[in-house]
Amino acid sequence: MSTGVIDAGLIDELTGIVGAVHVLRAPEMTAGYSIDWTRRFAGATPLVIRPGDTAETAAVMSALAAARVPVVPQGGNTGLVGGSVPLAGEAVLSMRRLNICEPVDELASQVTLGAGVTLADAQAHAAASGLSVGVDLAARDSATIGGMVATNAGGINVLRYGAMRAQVVGIEAVLADGTVVSHLAGLEKDNTGYDLGSLLAGSEGTLGIITRVRLRLHPTQPERATALLAFETAADAVSAAAALRRGVASLHALEAVFEGAMALVSRHLGVAPPVGRLGGDSHRNPPIEDGGGAWLIAEAAARTDPSDELGAAVEELADLVVDAAVALDPAARQRLWAFRDNVTEAISAAGIPHKLDVTLPAARLAEFVDGVPDVVRATDPDAQPLLFGHLGDGNVHVNVLGPGGAEPADEVDDAVLRYVAELGGSISAEHGIGTAKLSQLHLNRSEAELAAFSAIKRALDPVGLLNPNVLLP
Ligand code: FAD
Ligand code: LAC
Ligand code: ZN
Repeated sequence: MSTGVIDAGLIDELTGIVGAVHVLRAPEMTAGYSIDWTRRFAGATPLVIRPGDTAETAAVMSALAAARVPVVPQGGNTGLVGGSVPLAGEAVLSMRRLNICEPVDELASQVTLGAGVTLADAQAHAAASGLSVGVDLAARDSATIGGMVATNAGGINVLRYGAMRAQVVGIEAVLADGTVVSHLAGLEKDNTGYDLGSLLAGSEGTLGIITRVRLRLHPTQPERATALLAFETAADAVSAAAALRRGVASLHALEAVFEGAMALVSRHLGVAPPVGRLGGDSHRNPPIEDGGGAWLIAEAAARTDPSDELGAAVEELADLVVDAAVALDPAARQRLWAFRDNVTEAISAAGIPHKLDVTLPAARLAEFVDGVPDVVRATDPDAQPLLFGHLGDGNVHVNVLGPGGAEPADEVDDAVLRYVAELGGSISAEHGIGTAKLSQLHLNRSEAELAAFSAIKRALDPVGLLNPNVLLP
């Protein structure tokens, strides 16, 4: 694609639309928009534009389209696949100012939110009406609703409510030429043609700029019980996870941390896990290696106390569980969750990882967890694999650090993702393809599917202005 020129006329036009203070050009002003959360993906941009509403977004896109300027839409910039930053000199369209929470529709249990509303603000807004957002994740203070739909974010409650796509009952978006498409009535049954909300969910900013989203909300489940369970092997953890899914109707989250990641996070927190083989003083200087041990966090949530239900299910796992800690009050539960919530932060504090977010069929999950360290080391003998994730969804985060926190060899990504595909898994469970996995998309998608993707892209963005280097090879 021949890219357009950002000249004084275009800057004047954009300034007229959003105001001078929201057109950023100085490198010190644009730098924060040009590097991702992991620090692995860094670029530069000549222009950041911050529209304040849908009409401004449409006018900005119309001006950029006329000038043929490619654009990267950006929300909270917490994405982990290099899709939210300008790696080829694109303009950045920051959506954070679209942060209006409309009143909760209590009759429908729905709410319409601006794309720039953070997940934490959306959660607080829903909670004031006794309702909750179905998706939760650790980046909640920065991740935006628009970015979460664009990535079809998953998080810790997918086993109960589904991922972000399942929450969307209406969408408003601006297409590449500035056209606004809006379908926000939120009717539970509405078979009137293509579902643009579903199409835009997981589109990673390549098909349209999401401006408003209508979300399905869920009754809050205020009574909680949380268990941290330790296992000798990944296979035992996988068997226990399946039993908990079958046996605990109020199961709300089912997360795993494997030994190398547990050693790292416990050292980061300065606290040893209360159960399992890394107890005692191990957090002071534990070996950061994959010794085979596994931990599960299982949380049950209901309107009445679910601790008996969870406790009974855990007792039935006596043959598999080495040790268990159960917490009921918020502070004690938080102490257990810290060993899962802080893994990503602990890894980033240790270096710049390659983040490989994958799903496996349940039957191959334990084999994968046991086998992937060898796959990593066969490619880069000095690399350190760190495994954790949403085991209840079959979703493992394989993070890989090089020596001293440097990046591992690039070939590690390809080796791990090929292994995933061989076992029948998906190379992206929840983070998307971005720029990080462009060259591996063919491992999961046939030529015919990729041709259909390209046809959809051409139909909605014929010039290729929206995130031109993301998702589609
Ligand atoms: P950004 O990072 O800004 O953008 C992500 C993608 O969406 C980009 O391709 C961008 O172009 C596009 N985009 C953003 N806004 C729009 C818009 N309005 N219209 C169109 N396209 C848009 N993810 C999970 O799924 N599950 C987790 O459990 C999880 N945990 C995380 C924990 C931490 C500590 C961190 C840092 C990240 C985590 N993530 C997780 C990844 C990340 O938070 C999600 O991908 C999130 O959905 C990104 O939202 P964002 O607003 O930051 O989007
Ligand atoms: C998590 C992110 C990395 O689950 O998806 O912590
Ligand atoms: Zn995750």
